[in-house]
Amino acid sequence: MANLVQDSRKHVACYKYAIQYPLGCHYPATACLVPICSLYGAAVTTVEGVGSIKTRIHPVQERLAKCHGTQCGFCSPGMVMSIYTLLRNHPEPTPEQITKALGGNLCRCTGYRPIVESGKTFCVESTVCELKGSGKCCMDQEDGSLVNRWEKMCTKLYDEDEFQPLDPSQSKQGERITWITPATLNDLLELKANFPKAPLIMGNTELGPSIKFKNEFHPVFISPLGLPELHFVNTTDDGVTIGAGYSLAQLNDALHCIVSEQPKEKTETHRALLKHLRTLAGAQIRNMATSGGHVVSWPNFSDLNPILAAGNGTINLISKGKRPSFNQSQLFSYLQWHFVFGLRMAQRQENAFAIVNAGMSVKFEDDTNTIKELQMFYGSVGPTTVSASQTCKQLIGRQWDDQMLSDACRWVLDEIYIPPAAEGGMVEYRQTLIISLLFKFYLKILKLTVNALEDFPIETPPRNSDCVDPHQPLQDPVGHPVMHQSAIKHTTGEAVYTDDMPCIDQELFLAPITSTRAHAKIISTDISEALALPGVVDVITAEDVPGDNNYQGEIFYAQNEVICVGQVVGTVAADTYAHAREAAKKVKITYEDIEPRIITIEQALEHNSFLFDEKKIEQGNVEQAFKYVDPIIEGEVHVEGQEHFYMETSSILALPKEEDKEMVLHLGTQYPTHVQEYVAAALNVPRNRIACRMKRTGGAFGGKVAKPAVLGAVSAVAANKTGRPIRFILERGDDMLITAGRHPLLGKYKIGFMNNGVIKAADVEYYVNGGSVGIILYLHKDLSYKSDNFCLCEISLCFASTQVVEACKTNLPSNTAFRGFGFPQGTVVVEAYITAVASQCNLPPEEVKEINMYKRISKTAFKQTFNPEPSRRCWKECLEKSSFYAGKLAAEEFNKKNYWKKRGLAIVPMKFSIGIPTAYYNQVAALVHIYLDGSVLVIHGGCELRQGLYTKMIQVASHELNIPQSHIHLSETSTVTVPNGVLTSESMGTDINGKAVQNACQTLMARLHPIIRKNRKGKWEDWIAKAFEESISLSVTGYFRGYQTNMDWEKGEGNAYPYYVYGAACSEVEVDCLTGAHELLRTDIFMDAAFSINPALDIGQIEGAFIQGIGFYTIEELKYSPEGVLYSRSPDDYKIPTITEIPEEFYVTLVRSQNPVAIYSSKGLGEAGMFWGSSVLFAIYDAVAAAPKTFVLSSPAAPEMIRMTCVDQFTDMIREIPRDDPSTFTPWSIRVS
Ligand SMILES: Cc1cc2nc3c(=O)[nH]c(=O)nc-3n(C[C@H](O)[C@H](O)[C@H](O)COP(=O)(O)OP(=O)(O)OC[C@H]3O[C@@H](n4cnc5c(N)ncnc54)[C@H](O)[C@@H]3O)c2cc1C
Ligand code: FES
Repeated sequence: MANLVQDSRKHVACYKYAIQYPLGCHYPATACLVPICSLYGAAVTTVEGVGSIKTRIHPVQERLAKCHGTQCGFCSPGMVMSIYTLLRNHPEPTPEQITKALGGNLCRCTGYRPIVESGKTFCVESTVCELKGSGKCCMDQEDGSLVNRWEKMCTKLYDEDEFQPLDPSQSKQGERITWITPATLNDLLELKANFPKAPLIMGNTELGPSIKFKNEFHPVFISPLGLPELHFVNTTDDGVTIGAGYSLAQLNDALHCIVSEQPKEKTETHRALLKHLRTLAGAQIRNMATSGGHVVSWPNFSDLNPILAAGNGTINLISKGKRPSFNQSQLFSYLQWHFVFGLRMAQRQENAFAIVNAGMSVKFEDDTNTIKELQMFYGSVGPTTVSASQTCKQLIGRQWDDQMLSDACRWVLDEIYIPPAAEGGMVEYRQTLIISLLFKFYLKILKLTVNALEDFPIETPPRNSDCVDPHQPLQDPVGHPVMHQSAIKHTTGEAVYTDDMPCIDQELFLAPITSTRAHAKIISTDISEALALPGVVDVITAEDVPGDNNYQGEIFYAQNEVICVGQVVGTVAADTYAHAREAAKKVKITYEDIEPRIITIEQALEHNSFLFDEKKIEQGNVEQAFKYVDPIIEGEVHVEGQEHFYMETSSILALPKEEDKEMVLHLGTQYPTHVQEYVAAALNVPRNRIACRMKRTGGAFGGKVAKPAVLGAVSAVAANKTGRPIRFILERGDDMLITAGRHPLLGKYKIGFMNNGVIKAADVEYYVNGGSVGIILYLHKDLSYKSDNFCLCEISLCFASTQVVEACKTNLPSNTAFRGFGFPQGTVVVEAYITAVASQCNLPPEEVKEINMYKRISKTAFKQTFNPEPSRRCWKECLEKSSFYAGKLAAEEFNKKNYWKKRGLAIVPMKFSIGIPTAYYNQVAALVHIYLDGSVLVIHGGCELRQGLYTKMIQVASHELNIPQSHIHLSETSTVTVPNGVLTSESMGTDINGKAVQNACQTLMARLHPIIRKNRKGKWEDWIAKAFEESISLSVTGYFRGYQTNMDWEKGEGNAYPYYVYGAACSEVEVDCLTGAHELLRTDIFMDAAFSINPALDIGQIEGAFIQGIGFYTIEELKYSPEGVLYSRSPDDYKIPTITEIPEEFYVTLVRSQNPVAIYSSKGLGEAGMFWGSSVLFAIYDAVAAAPKTFVLSSPAAPEMIRMTCVDQFTDMIREIPRDDPSTFTPWSIRVS
């Protein structure tokens, strides 16, 4: 059973024709939660069964690829299965059904828009291209091929004749587990009596994760899923009874049916349930989870239980010997003058457990507003669904008025106590939600202030992206929206990632043993119990490292002391992963804590704990300038970290060779040379014995720059010791714990300015939480704004940075590179003080931004000259095309009319520095071979991370050699073919590798030129044959020395970057002040792309980065305990954006400019788009500023922060509650920035 998200590639479609699905129905399921035994009676289709490159591909796969809905491809099979099953059930779906079907799927690369668009091509009125009608798509690259393939499309999923006859009663015995399927209800009761502790396994969506993550073990499972007695809907005049075996999706369908047939007053509870069923989990989970399992298994979080309770639902129970009539009493009843509502607030609208939910119902005396019955149930505030029964009792007989509300709020807060150290934290927020939801209920009954009541709708908007320049010459691939080279293979599931590589003889699986203490001495380690377990071959520790165990400050296996929770102390090698994992849990380590334990930046500052020396950049005389300004403001901005959440977790296959101490590592990395270096150091062999090979990886985002080297060394040591191949695939939780992420940052500023908003002096300090070891941070902070006098005293470290200096050393796992390398954090501080200056001057932020922006050819703080003209153009166009000022006026109008919902807009400019200011980090080589049949093999030092680097390199080679792209192939990146390659990051992949490929191709063309000149009418193949006859070498190494950047740290000046990327983005949001939820109404992005080599890939980069930025700035929260334990280790407790977070209207425009230094005058756009997410953060602050507020800007603007920033009578009530003395409890989590 594998990790939930990791398995997004392994979604399957099930076809159940058995009792549960009398009419036969296809549904997508999350493979890792489907026990094999439960599939009896089902037909299962995997993505390979839908279509394959070996036979024929399915339109769903083809369209997803051609609409550019796949980048790394790791999520693509899941997306395909969701749309495929939808189409099996609804051949002509609506756009809403497409969005709903994709709901439970996560994608970290694309930003979802192209995925939704590919699905929409199947709608009756396709909004995308003509593909549906004609079978042709504007994205087709090989004429005619698509039509032919479509004609051959397979429509039949399976052959019924091949099914085995159904034997209803089954028992299956495994190594440790017995699975029993009862054939009748009596059998079930008998079994339950015989095995009282055996769980009933229904959808397995609660049991599965408990077994996997909480180490639950059950020797016997009883699987009654197919019993007819559990699958029924009985509707009578008094109510409805629904079988416990109904899936939540079936419950949803049944309720919809009843609601459409019954009068409104009879379906209050049904509608409340339906509202929550829309957002509860995702489609796959709803297909599997049963109503019985839900009611029983999620006593505290359940979204449905509070409503069922408030709706007077009854649960029918049965056990052996006591047999009440099983299906006679109603589940929820129909009553007159009875109002039932369900309310919830979650971190993310869909597929996220509620922070607080509620089910409330009230019954009035006939024709009055006198309360006759009142019920209030809350979820996520205690160990079970909690009833506010005392409060309700006290309110009987009261009028439904403001005084009643006020009393109800006070009483319910008295009745429902959330302890200050409660699990999950957010104590004040949860208390506020208790009464805010009650207030919403109050208004709903009064049918007042409608706008405040409604949750934000889940829209299926006509999202829009700017199209390609129609004037691009067709025959030249450069400038065209060429589909990702591996797109089709991504969608058929045939693209091979490390863990897809077939088993190798004698292979062992590795599981890590990690430290549970932040800073401690290792007193003893006992591995005896682990070694005794079946299948375990060895336990590997520091003593087994033949070379350097502490290389460049990185410790591969902890020895004597641990410096963070999650540090690798050892690994277990076993014949299966399950055995290795089991054994890793049995290793007993005794620790003795060491003081100090430093977790936060504040603690690091107290202890003077830094990783590197401080450096400063100064311009002008700051102290002097402060004397001549009008006001001076000072402030602090906290920016929390971010988890990469690449879909393919760190994966390594280490193969020791028998001869000469050679070893081959297949892995996902952005920096194969770095892995080679660390592995060689750990094994104490020269680097020429180590080969690192990398074909593709399922996303990286900076997280695979530095960490794979350490994990590579850990695996290599295990392979060396055991002499056997090692497969080391980190589970999601281990990956999140061990590899860490973006640096949390604390910015402190002091700004002097004039009353007209002109900034004259800035003194800014940046502190980052570097973790326990200094890896990489690259804090760009040279922005769009100019200040003549400033001092940047920044803390960070960098092997290659120009400007930044040291990082706080703490006992957290070392943070690392992440898309934008510090830019997304640093810029928030700058935008925050600009916004603060605007507020002080009583000017709109956009005006103060414009006043202080670079306007003409200027010098940066480190005296590099640049021309900000594209920045001005993007800013102007963004203001105009987004109708920014009209939008602001409309928002003001909206805000005047609405007290509880507020709208806000923000526009942010950007000047993003590209590359590394150390020239030798930009050098790269490429190999181009032409074979005698005319086919071309291109190899270079760059890694295919998802960004389409290989695709762009094919475009470059095709352009330079003037041959079709189909002649060119790229296979993999390897330290054997191109040695000493640099990291693929900093948006430089295409820039530097493109130049090397171009160089090689141009050399080849120069060699071929005399032959071509003599035979101009000849074909490519003729010229190649002739060149061979003339003994002309058809293999060339191309080279690019790198941009000649430099930085003199002594003088604080240099030509640090080859060029800058400019742009502007504006977003509009609506905020629900009562809950802290927000909706992104519109985003416009204008990005200076100069000349885009591949507009589809570039737009994909911008959109994907923007959505990742939204996550960073609004919903992604990493939670740490005060002891430095990371709680957020799964998709359950770390929420990245889903389809519901993308803007309702979304426009991306590539702005043209000149960039002669880069290949084809292009620009690197991989990272800069992250920062556009901050337009949403500042739009939220603009909206919140329109509400009564307490204003301290920090990131992310998560629901808790938004709600607690909006001050009202409810937050006042919470703040009046006497608080426990902080010295008497330990909070559940702390802020580490
Ligand atoms: C990714 C994910 C997201 C989720 N999001 C949400 C959400 O947003 N909101 C929400 O409310 N819930 C959410 N859930 C919880 C989900 O609703 C429950 O997991 C589900 O309803 C459990 O049903 P099941 O059939 O899978 O139970 P199983 O896992 O099969 O069984 C769970 C337990 O219930 C017992 N049981 C099952 N059926 C019966 C029965 N008929 N009689 C007696 N005992 C029984 C079993 O013995 C077992 O102990 C989410 C779950 C997942 C995995
Ligand atoms: S393409 Fe969706 S996760 Fe990479």
